[in-house]
Amino acid sequence: MDLVKRLEEYRDRERALAWEGTFAQYFEIACKRPKVARLSHERIYDMIMEAGVETTRNGELRYNFFSQEIFGIEKALQQIVDYFHSAAQRLEVRKRILLLMGPVGGGKSTIVQLLKRGLEAYTRTEAGAVYAIKGCPMHEEPLHLIPQELRPDIEKEFGLYIEGDLCPRCRYTLDNEYHGRIEDVPVQRIAFSEKYRIGIGTFTPSDPKSQDISELVGGIDLSTIGEVGVESDPRAYRFDGELNVANRGLMEFIEMLKVDEKFLYVLLTLSQEQNIKTGRFSMIYADEVVVSHTNEHEYQAFVGNKKSEALQDRIILVKVPYNLRVSDEIKIYEKLLKQSALHNVHIAPYTLRIASIFAVLTRLEPSKKAGMSLMKKLRLYDGEDIEDFKQKDVRELQEEAQREGMDGISPRYVINRLSNALVRQNVTCINPIDALRALRDGLDQHTSITREERERYLNFISEARKEYDELAKREVQRAFVYSYEEAARTLLNNYLDNVEAYCNKTKLRDPITDEEIDPDEQLMRSIEEQIGITENAKRAFREEILIRISSLARKGLTFDYTSHERLKEAIEKKLFADLRDVVKITTSTRTPDKEQRRKINEVVERLVAEHGYCYVCANEILRYVGSLLNR
Ligand SMILES: Nc1ncnc2c1ncn2[C@@H]1O[C@H](COP(=O)(O)OP(=O)(O)OP(=O)(O)O)[C@@H](O)[C@H]1O
Ligand SMILES: [Mg+2]
Ligand SMILES: [Zn+2]
Ligand SMILES: [Zn+2]
Repeated sequence: MDLVKRLEEYRDRERALAWEGTFAQYFEIACKRPKVARLSHERIYDMIMEAGVETTRNGELRYNFFSQEIFGIEKALQQIVDYFHSAAQRLEVRKRILLLMGPVGGGKSTIVQLLKRGLEAYTRTEAGAVYAIKGCPMHEEPLHLIPQELRPDIEKEFGLYIEGDLCPRCRYTLDNEYHGRIEDVPVQRIAFSEKYRIGIGTFTPSDPKSQDISELVGGIDLSTIGEVGVESDPRAYRFDGELNVANRGLMEFIEMLKVDEKFLYVLLTLSQEQNIKTGRFSMIYADEVVVSHTNEHEYQAFVGNKKSEALQDRIILVKVPYNLRVSDEIKIYEKLLKQSALHNVHIAPYTLRIASIFAVLTRLEPSKKAGMSLMKKLRLYDGEDIEDFKQKDVRELQEEAQREGMDGISPRYVINRLSNALVRQNVTCINPIDALRALRDGLDQHTSITREERERYLNFISEARKEYDELAKREVQRAFVYSYEEAARTLLNNYLDNVEAYCNKTKLRDPITDEEIDPDEQLMRSIEEQIGITENAKRAFREEILIRISSLARKGLTFDYTSHERLKEAIEKKLFADLRDVVKITTSTRTPDKEQRRKINEVVERLVAEHGYCYVCANEILRYVGSLLNR
């Protein structure tokens, strides 16, 4: 990195951000680039779209703005983007509050965080530049200075849409300091910042009895009221409520439905009329996106309450369910583990996959389709085609489900359990069995789980475990043969030598002692039996092989283990059967001999070098597979 160059760029950016000028100068900027004066929804929509959009294999849109952080809930994200899209065109929906509803730990807060952090970054770029009247507590749009009368002409001539009026504070300054000369009013570029309370606000409900409305809309400034005399003087008012602060940007309303009704009515006016009712002033214009979240339980109570009908009408509901794809669930865990202090602990291969399988199983609804188990459904959702069902069946399955993804185990729970297993003393590595154990133990402490649910979940743990058993066996057997091809070729040559001697009634030579020996009947039979060749049929089979060899030889071709389908099958089966015994014996013996020890070391080295294991989990998987094969 070229530090000097980077520092220069940084200073250039800071200089651009520190721009200050008069309204006249701003007006020139706005005429050239009307986007600087766009309203809040449009700004957020542009921010999302400018990050880029990709189309996935199954035709879904993937928004880069979200795709590094949010996985597997494309439908919810699409609805959110659709909302901003319509709102950006100033359609009626912009007058509604966006409400994210979903199960705990399903990513609602993360989505809002992304929007907030995104706005902070975006408003610091050229494309996302925002300007405000200098000193305005609501950093309002400078175009508000233009009198109503002139607006239609300006809109026609410069294509600038102007909405809203000056806040009481700016009106006061304009009249008293600038004596109506709007062209002289100072304007500055601003960057949104939650920390500095510019363009981004957050409202958290607390005790309804003590919570004050001024947290939302500001209030009388007792320290200045002595100077200015009357409460209705705008100088005596602090426009520092979360709604004031969030003007032009975004306000997050945490757990909106937990709040006292009088707060909700403020929101109602804001969303309906773009106005905040503040103190003794007439309505104050505000332009901001209100995003809120809630859980299903509270939402149902809200919908059931007649009194809230007006507000219900003002809400755009987006359901944010849990992710249902195993491969995306793994990405969530990887992201969370990277953020945690656990990134220097080794996670054995398949650990996250197995935990994900468990988590997704808890979220799936059983299907009524014949032969469709939850495990099959899980595979289909993850993009695998399985026997009997194909990707085209996925849509039908989704439509059949009632509330899939709204219940089950959250990613947060899984990560907490894994962390728990990892922070125990001297743990340097965690494997799938540890993970399942940690998840199971956690179920006892999980107070919100009913007995039946617990039973169901325990079942899913054993399903996930079966899945792992298969994966582990395959993994270890694969690691046991250095080169499968080579082993197959050696076995075949050995067989053919014996077959030749048998058919020609000759003898073989022992490669070491050079003695003459009879064909090895036992070896030949052990291969032939793999494909069911009987004692009576063996001669015909062997002769057929020899004929095949000589007919190939006449054409100048050599016979190899793929030249004869059935022989190939026999060789493969024999190899695996032999291997099974080797693996079984080698991995389960308590006192390995020298040769076994050598083999174990070799396999461990291969698992470490080529398959992502550390020495701890490589030895563990060998022991585990040994015990499986001995069952
Ligand atoms: N689909 C997802 N993609 C990426 N991360 C996710 C997803 N779902 C959950 N997470 C992660 O899980 C954690 C919990 O999510 P978050 O806090 O956003 O959930 P929430 O819906 O706001 O939960 P609560 O209702 O408890 O407030 C976060 O760290 C988040 O990044
Ligand atoms: Mg949350
Ligand atoms: Zn103002
Ligand atoms: Zn390990």
